[in-house]
Amino acid sequence: MRLLAIESSCDETAAAVLADGRHVLSSVVASQDAVHAPYGGIVPELASRRHLEVIVPVVEQALAAADTRLGDLDAIAVTRGPGLVGSLLVGCAVAKALAYVARKPLVGVHHLEGHIFAARLTEDPPEHPFLALVVSGGHTALYHAPAPLVYALVGQTRDDAAGEAFDKVAKLLGLGFPGGPVIERTARAGDPGAIGFPLAQMRDGASDFSFSGIKTAVALHVKRHGPLSPGQVADVAASFQAAVVKMLVRKTVRAALRLGVKRVVLTGGVAANGPLRAALAREAEAHGARLHVPPPHLCTDNAAMIGAAGAARLAAGERAGLTLNARPDWALEDASLGGAPRALAARAR
Ligand code: KG4
Ligand code: ZN
Repeated sequence: MRLLAIESSCDETAAAVLADGRHVLSSVVASQDAVHAPYGGIVPELASRRHLEVIVPVVEQALAAADTRLGDLDAIAVTRGPGLVGSLLVGCAVAKALAYVARKPLVGVHHLEGHIFAARLTEDPPEHPFLALVVSGGHTALYHAPAPLVYALVGQTRDDAAGEAFDKVAKLLGLGFPGGPVIERTARAGDPGAIGFPLAQMRDGASDFSFSGIKTAVALHVKRHGPLSPGQVADVAASFQAAVVKMLVRKTVRAALRLGVKRVVLTGGVAANGPLRAALAREAEAHGARLHVPPPHLCTDNAAMIGAAGAARLAAGERAGLTLNARPDWALEDASLGGAPRALAARAR
């Protein structure tokens, strides 16, 4: 089974060709970082325009690199949501046009299910049940996946996504965009214990996250002590990163223990972060659980992960018609096979 996958939900234009939903024959990612860098964040209108410019060459490149013609394909998968609507529409329109002209089945994929399926593209795919921490620029959430294609929301951010916090703090420190990689690099020269940034506590003990407090604390610190020397910037970056990692790890391990799951998946752009990968692996193991984390290039947005999820959806009998439309605010629970497992979600919380 040969499948073409397309991803354009945010600021990466990506296409991939997969064999049997497991073997990545090609994966092309065109980053828009240079387009958005002058603004210190993603400008939605610029993102959709850039997708329009590059999506056809990106798809052609993915097909050529996999030595595949449109006629050789068995299906096409595309990210349907969530994401920026203008960006999603570009991928959906191209996928529909290709499915129409080549007369191939089409399937719409949930972006976060794609991130979770990135873990299935490794040598060591996780078995169910597992807990997935999805941390990206747009999302920070914990999902319980008791069975294939079934998801219950366990906790989520009450304000910013973790990646968004990295991006905003990098902007505050004048480090550039995207923030995650540059903060990770800058933090290597800093002391993670230099500044005690506050960790949000949930009064109701929920597995929810909050990052706006840390972000504000960094802003106040910069205002009070600025202009900062390079050494001080490194200390702020290291202390901020340590606080975010601590919160993510603490909440995830607690939820895993509460649910009694022995497998944890870490995925999404922020999962490319070395200290987060190391700390969660260590803590999960200390509590009798195993961490499954895709390699960094499969953690950040790509189309291979969308292909892996799309293949599973096709195998489950899902097909989209040519009326497929973008769903910018699609909740992962609503994409669950058989509908959202509400009773399960209540128990997981
Ligand atoms: O999953 P992704 O590529 O796109 C979304 O779906 O949002 O995630 C992008 C986010 C950005 O906020 C970026 O700063 C963050 O992931 N990120 C990182 C690292 N690499 C990317 N955050 C922390 N450490 C990194 N190494
Ligand atoms: Zn993403």
